Amino acid sequence: MGEMLRPRGPLLCVVGARPNYMKMAPLIRAFSKQSTLPGVVLVHTGQHYDLAMNERLFNDLQLPAPDLNLEVGSGTHAVQTAEAMRRFEPIIDELRPSCVIVVGDVNSTLACSLVAAKKATPVVHVEAGLRSFDRAMPEEINRVLTDRIADLLFITERHAAENLAREGIEASRVHFVGNVMIDSLIEHRARAVPPADTLLRAGVRTTFIGDGDGEGYGVVTLHRPSNVDSPDALGEALAVLRDVSLRVPLVWPVHPRARVNIDRFGLASMLDDARIALLEPQGYLEMLGLLAGARLVLTDSGGIQEETTALSVPCLTMRDNTERPVTITQGTNTLVGRNRTAVEACINDILETGGRRGCVPEFWDGHAADRIAEHLVTWLAHPVPVEHRR
Ligand code: UD1
Repeated sequence: MGEMLRPRGPLLCVVGARPNYMKMAPLIRAFSKQSTLPGVVLVHTGQHYDLAMNERLFNDLQLPAPDLNLEVGSGTHAVQTAEAMRRFEPIIDELRPSCVIVVGDVNSTLACSLVAAKKATPVVHVEAGLRSFDRAMPEEINRVLTDRIADLLFITERHAAENLAREGIEASRVHFVGNVMIDSLIEHRARAVPPADTLLRAGVRTTFIGDGDGEGYGVVTLHRPSNVDSPDALGEALAVLRDVSLRVPLVWPVHPRARVNIDRFGLASMLDDARIALLEPQGYLEMLGLLAGARLVLTDSGGIQEETTALSVPCLTMRDNTERPVTITQGTNTLVGRNRTAVEACINDILETGGRRGCVPEFWDGHAADRIAEHLVTWLAHPVPVEHRR
């Protein structure tokens, strides 16, 4: 049994897809405030590459431009993951980072963790321990595997520690720090773009979202393969949205995956008489403004379940499960799947009473990234016990 000195290279931070950016931005800011931490190198795998899915969010979140972009692009899961791994490996060889820091559950998260772990480079996973227990979700595989090989795991809700313990991950590696995504929300809340401005810019009449008559509007986001990749599922989802829109007008910034499939499956006509404004993917500040001003949100996103809880806006999640149970037990979230009856009951409640208001979970207070930075200072100051290295 001995000790191994840590490499003193940079903190190698990885992002790949849109939901990673709002998690990484507060981390990079918090790291820069700790003078004893090594510098940051930001790597973008290029999993998301559209202007609307990328640069706009980087600007909004004041994320520095990536130091390196691996330009992996789209592909099957195997191709996307493999390409990210191939292109990430030489970066570890060259930079010899102190650790690799990954967030969330996208393919880039797993790809870069796996490369680092095999090179005996410590892996830090932010937003660890979330489980939907649904292996049909690609993200669930990414979560389970990333957590298994991570050296240090930061969790957003206490419940996640139980998931990790059940999988045999030592409690000493796991730290409850709160939610870095909510750090971003709190930081940028005051700069959110008013919904009327976003609609005007998209060419939608602002009377669409109610002009003080109290009708308000709902926001939709939909992109999970389970909802948008088959004609049946997408048809059911659109039927739900149409129903709801006849009672509350909806604003839907459409993810490229959903947009392509609506056209490919010939489903666009299902929305002909619906009151739904279809928008391009929006920036972070536009989205924040839309969510904050909404009467309700319909989504299958992970992050938006959390953001609506933080904003106290009722959220109807169009999935059968969630890896974020605190949004149900404490927040504003209700699982409705594509069940029209369940949705209708929720809409009745929202229109009559305002719906669930919930409370904000512990440590979703804007300081999660600071807590992580403090942990890293201590952790990096200690040599790695060899028995802890693979
Ligand atoms: C990915 C993540 C998902 C996350 C989502 C947020 C995985 C397994 N999935 O899903 O967890 O919630 O990002 O958006 O990592 N496309 C573009 N422009 C882009 C990126 C994608 O047009 O910049 C289109 C392409 O047609 C592509 C499709 O969207 O094939 C899907 O992109 P991909 O990165 O494979 O997965 P997402 O569905 O975005």
